[in-house]
Amino acid sequence: MKLDVVPVASIQGSLRPPSDKSLTHRAYMLAAMANEPSVVRNPLRGEDCEATLRCLEAMGSRATWLSEHKVRLEPAESWHSPASDLDCGNSGTTMRLLSGLIASWPIEATLKGDVSLSRRPMGRIAEPLRLMGATVEGETPPIRIAGGGLRGISYTTPVPSAQIKSCVLLAGLRAEGVTVVTETVPSRDHTERMLAALGAPITLSGNGPFTASVIGGYSLRGFDFTAPADISSAAFFMVAAALLPGSELVIEDLSVNPSRTGILDVFRQAGAPCAVENERSELGEPVGDVAVRFSPSLRPFTIEGSLVPRLIDEIPVLAVMATQCQGMSVIRDAKELRVKESDRIEMVAAGLRAMGARVETFEDGMAIHGPCRLRGARIETAHDHRIAMAFAIAGLIAQGQTTIEGAEAISTSYPRFEQDLMGLCIV
Ligand code: S3P
Repeated sequence: MKLDVVPVASIQGSLRPPSDKSLTHRAYMLAAMANEPSVVRNPLRGEDCEATLRCLEAMGSRATWLSEHKVRLEPAESWHSPASDLDCGNSGTTMRLLSGLIASWPIEATLKGDVSLSRRPMGRIAEPLRLMGATVEGETPPIRIAGGGLRGISYTTPVPSAQIKSCVLLAGLRAEGVTVVTETVPSRDHTERMLAALGAPITLSGNGPFTASVIGGYSLRGFDFTAPADISSAAFFMVAAALLPGSELVIEDLSVNPSRTGILDVFRQAGAPCAVENERSELGEPVGDVAVRFSPSLRPFTIEGSLVPRLIDEIPVLAVMATQCQGMSVIRDAKELRVKESDRIEMVAAGLRAMGARVETFEDGMAIHGPCRLRGARIETAHDHRIAMAFAIAGLIAQGQTTIEGAEAISTSYPRFEQDLMGLCIV
């Protein structure tokens, strides 16, 4: 499917983006581990999270939709091996976190994915799960796991990754003894916050290295969770508002967990006006409204070090923003981008160059020279939802028409993207 985008004058209004993908995955998985039913309100109804739900149902959990935006989850009385391979679709979070759960039960499962997921590294979760006592075959999908009888380990993650950390912590909840995960640079902490809010025996410490420890054998209680909106989806419209003259946008009900708000730091570096209002909390997650306005002159910015995991999924659209800044913006320490849904360093660079921008790439990032008047182009997306949406935003500020190839990938995280875009744009 193609998405044609033409330039617009500005964007105006308010938006409640789709619910947070990371939180929806975790809410489903924790509900499946609980000892009583849970309710999840406003979950993300995108393909990635639906894949998580289907996989959990294949092992005995039951999901009943009480309305379009409310699902009741009953945990399996006893998890069983799925009758066929578990299809995780495009979703790395499904495969990596679910692997931790499966490893903790005496069951066997094969997890597979689409072409993109089949290229992504799974050795990073296989290694700690093997150390805990599970059998894991395969370094890339499909992977086969035979679990049960886990023992706690002390593990330092090789890269800052909430997916690795969460996989090990979830497995640790049903392992014998204590499981400790250490990170040198902290990744998003949704799993830790949710576990703490549910009263699970989790301890957090450190100003670097950062550790999270869980004691095995704890049985989670059921919960009622309302998922806030996803800052990674909001990011596309935040950048559009910063770039399009006269724009004013309020994003409502947004997860503003500090481990996810690196984009706000970049906006401050660039001098793009943005403010968080009405802060509140939902199952340990900070939530607020974010107001963004157009800025006639943006400074270049640098993304590196501990900022990277706090905005890892926003880098494609921030690279688009960099083309409009007054100088060279630099992104470093972001090698992980090469193993996301696509090689996002190459895909971003190729797309921006096709639109006339000057971009240099490094193994761990890129340098983008601004300001540059972008021109419309045909953009390849390698079926990567965030590449497709980032270039749709580039198309709004470009001269002429931009055609996004493979735009169907957008539905993995933001099924209503096109409607929301049309609803906010002033032509
Ligand atoms: C996610 C963590 C991030 C992020 C992904 C979702 C999660 O991946 O890129 O979209 O829900 O834990 P890593 O933790 O592997 O960097």
